[in-house]
Amino acid sequence: MITDAIRKEIQESFKAAFNWQPETISITTAEPKFGDFSVSCHRYAKELAQPPQAIAEKLAPAIKHESITRAEAVSGYLNVTVSAGVLAKEAVPEVIKQGKRYGESKENKQKLLLEYSSPNTNKPLHLGHVRNNALGMSFSRLLSSQGADVKKVQIINDRGIHIIKSMLAYQKWGDGQTPEEAGQKGDHFVGKFYVLFEREFEAEWQAFLKNNPEVPGLSKEDAAKRRQEFFGESEIGLQAQEMLRKWEAGDREVVALWKQMNEWVYAGFEETYQNLGSEFDKNYYESDAYLLGKKIIDEGLKKDVFFEEDGAIWVDLTDVGLDKKLVRRSDGTSVYITQDLGLAVSRQKEFGFDGLVYVVGHEQEYHFKVLFAILKKLGYDWAKNLHHLSYGLVFLPEGKMKSREGKVVDADDRIREVKALAAEEVAKRFPDITEAERSERADTIGMGALKFFLLHVTPTQSIHYNPKEAIAFEGSTGPYVQYAHARISSILSEETPLAASGVKLGLLDKPEEKAISLKLLQYPAVVSGAAERYNPSLVCNYLLELAHAFNTFYHAHHVLKAESEELKHARLVLVQAIQIVLRNGLALLGIKAPEKM
Ligand code: ARG
Repeated sequence: MITDAIRKEIQESFKAAFNWQPETISITTAEPKFGDFSVSCHRYAKELAQPPQAIAEKLAPAIKHESITRAEAVSGYLNVTVSAGVLAKEAVPEVIKQGKRYGESKENKQKLLLEYSSPNTNKPLHLGHVRNNALGMSFSRLLSSQGADVKKVQIINDRGIHIIKSMLAYQKWGDGQTPEEAGQKGDHFVGKFYVLFEREFEAEWQAFLKNNPEVPGLSKEDAAKRRQEFFGESEIGLQAQEMLRKWEAGDREVVALWKQMNEWVYAGFEETYQNLGSEFDKNYYESDAYLLGKKIIDEGLKKDVFFEEDGAIWVDLTDVGLDKKLVRRSDGTSVYITQDLGLAVSRQKEFGFDGLVYVVGHEQEYHFKVLFAILKKLGYDWAKNLHHLSYGLVFLPEGKMKSREGKVVDADDRIREVKALAAEEVAKRFPDITEAERSERADTIGMGALKFFLLHVTPTQSIHYNPKEAIAFEGSTGPYVQYAHARISSILSEETPLAASGVKLGLLDKPEEKAISLKLLQYPAVVSGAAERYNPSLVCNYLLELAHAFNTFYHAHHVLKAESEELKHARLVLVQAIQIVLRNGLALLGIKAPEKM
């Protein structure tokens, strides 16, 4: 954003210098050593038949506006420097006036369906889900802030061989116990049986290897493939397959066990979601969606989009650079993609969305390519509006998280850990507050630390999670930003600031004050850019810079003890504007802005 007066002045200088005006001019933030704003003249070179530098050199002297203290031509750019007071008068009242809405826009009126989280029901959420949820909630807020009508949904993968594994193990070794009796959260309780199943299968596999010494000599890939095949030969694998068939046939006992175990899991998920602040407008369940998926496969068979081979159903996607893909097993049971066919079609029917975004880890990139290709082959025109928003892994210092072997990088554990670290910090700083107060602040700071750490990396990149680093009050962290907010709260609590209109904001002419005004002006563009690119890290970086600009200012100048009453009031309003933007930005990240820290 830039002041309208300055935009107009630059337009005028075109007229004065060339007797011509571009319809729109795009003004960007300049590198500080060159000025405040830049206009690239490269784009006018053709129209004006002159080199960019020559254009800039003619524009610079034509700039007359009193607010512009310097106008220079450098490498084809017109760089202008604006008076600090003018910037403050432009930025601060706007922020104060718009308050919570500062940064919002109505540009994007699309109806968007945003799918995120989408866990399986055989185990608890892990650290990857924490990233997913942080991203999902932040995308939703960013997109809504730009005017989109966003519906947040998840698909709960509540059926299939993974949940059967937990069920079978529970039947074998659960002794009819409940999570309450075991003193465990429901999702952890069910996850324990999943691990037991895998352990049993591994034992059978090891016994098999003893009698089949050629297998360990196979390549890693072939050995893994062989292990997968062995599932259909192993005793426990065969039992699981039998149970899955029974489930699909609606066997009463199996279905009752399934319902019970899923109930336990949902109660557990609910608690984690509350901690994460995750919400959904609608939950979908694979157990419903796969039925519609099956119908779509039948229709596709008739339309020859799919073909049959040895009783199994396939689709050939080699013409679009993908492989042949199984869509139904020969025993009639469904595969993962079946549900997604049903889901996409029913979501389009229900919402008539302009876009459907799947927030899912990058290991499923191929799956979504296949899904979108199949839907296009089936003739759904809206398939072009589906997007996979892929994100990278989260590593712990020990390496990649693995859940199959039971080394679960558990979400609840990580949440507890970071909150405990925050509680220690709070106890150090405020030894006298009540237990309730301490725990509330620890929640705010701990979750702020965790979310910020996961969001300040571009989604496509992987993250090495380090809770100690995340919780630090200094550095590129959530608590650093939260602390700036709390500090401002404490300044403002000393004095009720005046309305921005009666205040002499022109007095805010120090370089540190100017840096803040410039930052405040940038905020709306940062938010729209982050929404457009699905990249909350841009908001994180911005907030770090704004918090830093505040700290620099606060070290250099007095607010409450400013040289004059007028200056004090102007500075109070300035820090109030900073506070609003910090709070708005943190809200886009799903992070609370504490009053005290
Ligand atoms: N439940 C799946 C998993 O944990 C993710 C589901 C992603 N969404 C989808 N529509 N396929 O791997």
